Amino acid sequence: MAGGGIAPSPGGGKAYPGNLTLYVIVTCVVAAMGGLIFGYDIGISGGVTSMDSFLMRFFPSVYHKEKLDANTNQYCKFDSVTLTLFTSSLYLAALASSIVASTVTRKLGRKLSMLFGGILFCAGALINGFAQNVAMLIVGRILLGFGIGFANQSVPLYLSEMAPYKYRGALNIGFQLSITVGILVANVLNYGFAKIEGGWGWRLSLGGAMVPALIIILGSLLLPETPNSLIERGKRDEARAKLVRIRGISDVDEEFHDLVAASEASQKVEHPWRNLLQKKYRPHLVMAVLIPFFQQLTGINVIMFYAPVLFKTLGFASDASLMSAVITGVVNVVATWVSIYGVDKWGRRFLFLEGGSQMFICQIVVAICIGVKFGVTGVAAEIEKWFASLVVLFICVYVAGFAWSWGPLGWLVPSEIFPLEIRSAAQSINVSVNMIFTFLIAQVFLSMLCHMKFGLFLFFAFFVVVMSVFIYFFLPETKNIPIEEMMYVWRNHWFWSKYVTDDDLPANGRSAMEMQAAGEKKV
Ligand code: BGC
Repeated sequence: MAGGGIAPSPGGGKAYPGNLTLYVIVTCVVAAMGGLIFGYDIGISGGVTSMDSFLMRFFPSVYHKEKLDANTNQYCKFDSVTLTLFTSSLYLAALASSIVASTVTRKLGRKLSMLFGGILFCAGALINGFAQNVAMLIVGRILLGFGIGFANQSVPLYLSEMAPYKYRGALNIGFQLSITVGILVANVLNYGFAKIEGGWGWRLSLGGAMVPALIIILGSLLLPETPNSLIERGKRDEARAKLVRIRGISDVDEEFHDLVAASEASQKVEHPWRNLLQKKYRPHLVMAVLIPFFQQLTGINVIMFYAPVLFKTLGFASDASLMSAVITGVVNVVATWVSIYGVDKWGRRFLFLEGGSQMFICQIVVAICIGVKFGVTGVAAEIEKWFASLVVLFICVYVAGFAWSWGPLGWLVPSEIFPLEIRSAAQSINVSVNMIFTFLIAQVFLSMLCHMKFGLFLFFAFFVVVMSVFIYFFLPETKNIPIEEMMYVWRNHWFWSKYVTDDDLPANGRSAMEMQAAGEKKV
C-alpha cells in the first residue's frame, strides 16, 4: 500500500507562501452556507411529509391510509408516487442544472454562478413556504434543485481555489460537515415547527430555506472572484492583484505562474470527455462512476430523507419520530468530526472498510428487528419501548459508520484522484451519478419498502458488502499523496497497473525505484 515515505503536501506539493486572511475566512462562511442549503433540503422533506397537517392538505389519500385504517400494512402506508416526487424532484433538477452551471462557472465566473444559485434557491423557498397545492410544492422543489446544482458546482470550486493549499483537505470535509449541520438544523426546526398551533408550521420549515439563500446571495455580491477564474477569462493583471490581497503578501509570483500554467494546460485539452476514455484514465473513470453509486447504495438517504416516516412506519408517535430524526442528525454531525480527525492519520481505506463493516452489522440487525415485529404481512403488533430504542440505537450506529466513511470520502476521494486535464469532466460525472442515484433512492424507497419489506435493509446490506470488497481490492490508499503524484499510485497497484504504465507517469516525477526507496509497496 502506498503511504509512509511521502511528506504530506496536500494539493500542490509546493509550499506557496500566504496567510489565512479575512477573505479566506469569509469564503469559508459562504461555502458553509452552500453546504447548509444542500443539507437543509435533504433533512427538511422527511419531517414535513410526516406532519399530519401537511399530509392532510397535500396528500389526503396518504393521510387517510395512515390514520384511518388500523389494519393497513405498515410497510405500505406511505407508498405514494406524488409524495416521493415531492422529495426526489429536487435531485433531478439539480442534475439538470449542474450541467448548465458548469458552463456558467467556467465562462462567467464562480461568483455569478453562486448568485444564480442563491436567487433560484430563494425563489424555491418562497414558493414552497406559500404553497397552495402540490404543483406549487413541486415547482418550488425544482427551483431549489436548480439552485443546488449551481451552488454545488461553484462553491466547492471557489473554496479550493481560494484556500491556501495547506487547508484544502480540511476544507473539503468542512463542506460535508456543513451538509450534516444543515440536515440537523432541518430536523430540529421540523421538531419545533410541528408543534405550532393550527398546523401551519411546515410553511416555516420550507420557507426557512430562505435564510441561508439570502446569505449566499449577499456573499456572492461581496466576495472577490477567484484568481483562477480571472486568469481563465483572460484578466491576468486583475488576477495577480487579487491573489496579493487574498494571500495577504506581495510575493505571490510562484503561485501566480503556476496558476497561469495550469490554466493554459487545461485550455489545451480540446476534448476533456473523450480524453477521459483513454486507457490511462480507466481507474479514474471507474472511480468517478462507482464511488458516488456505492455512496448512495449504502441506503443512507433512506434515513436522511425518510427517518421520521420510517419511524412512524415502525409505530412511533409523530413527536417521537421527529425526535428520533433529531438524534440521528446529531450523530451524523458528531461522527463527521471523527473523519476530519482520522482521514489523514488512519487513511481512507481503513475508514471505508471499518465504516462498511459497521453499517453492514447494523443493517442486518435492523432487518431482523423489523422482520420479527412486522413479518411479511406488515400488520403492526404492539410496539414496546425497548424495541423502539433498539432500532433507533442501531440506526444511529449505522449513521455514524456512514458519517466517517462513505459520507465525506465519497466526495473527498474523487476530488483528489483526478489529474487536472480531466478534472472538470470527471468531477461532473461524479456529481451527476450522485444526483441520479440520490433521485432514484428518494423516488423508489417508499415503494421498495412496501414490496421488499424488511428485506429492503438486506438489499442495502448486500451492496455494502459489494462496495467493501471493491474498496479492499481496487482502491489504493491516497492519504498524504500529492495530487500530481497520484499516477504512481495506480502504476503500483496490482490491478490498475494494467492500465497505467510507466509512459503515463509525469516526466518530472519520481521513479518507481525512488518510491520503493521511500518504503512504498504495491497494494
Ligand atoms: C451524501 C448525501 C447524504 C449526506 C448525509 C452526503 O455525503 O452525498 O446524499 O444525504 O452525505 O450526511
